[in-house]
Amino acid sequence: MQDVTDGAFWNLMHRYGGADVYWTEYFRVHAVSRLEKWIVESIEQNATGRPIVAQMIGNDIPSLIRTAKELQQLPVVAIDLNLGCPAPIVYRKCAGGGLLREPQRVDAILGALRAAVDIKFTVKTRVGFQSVAEFDALLPIFAKHSIDLLTVHARTVAQMYRLPVHYDLIRQAAEAMKCPVCANGHLYSADQALDVLAQTEARGLMIGRGVIRSPWLFAQIRQRLRGAPITLPAGRDVLGYIEALWESQASFDAPERIQVERMKKFMNYIGEGIGTDGQFLHRIRRAQTRADFFRLCRDFLEHDQPLKLEPATANSPAPVTAI
Ligand SMILES: Cc1cc2nc3c(=O)[nH]c(=O)nc-3n(C[C@H](O)[C@H](O)[C@H](O)COP(=O)(O)O)c2cc1C
Repeated sequence: MQDVTDGAFWNLMHRYGGADVYWTEYFRVHAVSRLEKWIVESIEQNATGRPIVAQMIGNDIPSLIRTAKELQQLPVVAIDLNLGCPAPIVYRKCAGGGLLREPQRVDAILGALRAAVDIKFTVKTRVGFQSVAEFDALLPIFAKHSIDLLTVHARTVAQMYRLPVHYDLIRQAAEAMKCPVCANGHLYSADQALDVLAQTEARGLMIGRGVIRSPWLFAQIRQRLRGAPITLPAGRDVLGYIEALWESQASFDAPERIQVERMKKFMNYIGEGIGTDGQFLHRIRRAQTRADFFRLCRDFLEHDQPLKLEPATANSPAPVTAI
């Protein structure tokens, strides 16, 4: 996730059990692009011991091939192509989710990249640009190119992050594809994640905002898969997570105010799971100093009650402040 899933964030997730595999934020690819240094550093300094997939976004075939070849030299297990980003600045240039409007172009890009990538080549897609009906034409193209994994974020680009998530289309993909399919979109609890796995017959789950809100979610899903009861964090554990997140994001040369603002980006997700009346988020968004910020966190979280950390209503998706 852009501006979120860097090496420091992966390491933090790993302390709570972590994912089986991590994706980079996307490398932007065009005629004069160079690999973003901070993403390369995250890959090279990956301390989780878990594999990394390097994601690219772009539409220029020679540039995508050049970048894929450079990325293959890094310690990554796969090269992934983003066909889902719904940011207008991206899709208007016909990259990310914008490419879904041009299936023939997707076909050409996948063919060229499949031929050029020696390691695993994977695709992350939405289910259409304007309408879910477009998925019927996209799936045979994904199936044609012997990709190694298809991750389906089961919303259209036009939907942005609104509900519903069309999990039935993930099942359609799982039935049509020879490769494994990974389900993505609005996964927020272990029970719901297992329901989605069963409903879609996907082979894996990709989780974004849900683990910013609760890094315990990965471990809870594993507990449910083993048939074990899930362990809920107490308020104090969540406070500890927020402190660790601050440390992981801290930059010595940034003013305190900027660091507080950076934390608010994460708090948009975490805050959704704290209380039901929105008071925590409302107040944290007004914090100006580190002292104010943590005073508020302590007011709401210095207790031993277990917290589910689910969105207030499962039907209201987390607010999205970027992309
Ligand atoms: C801030 C933000 C940044 C994101 N950046 C990326 C990205 O770089 N690559 C990508 O494939 N998806 C990106 N996404 C989309 C997520 O990977 C995911 O598909 C989407 O949020 C739905 O899953 P979730 O409900 O588990 O978050 C981003 C989403 C957000 C909110």
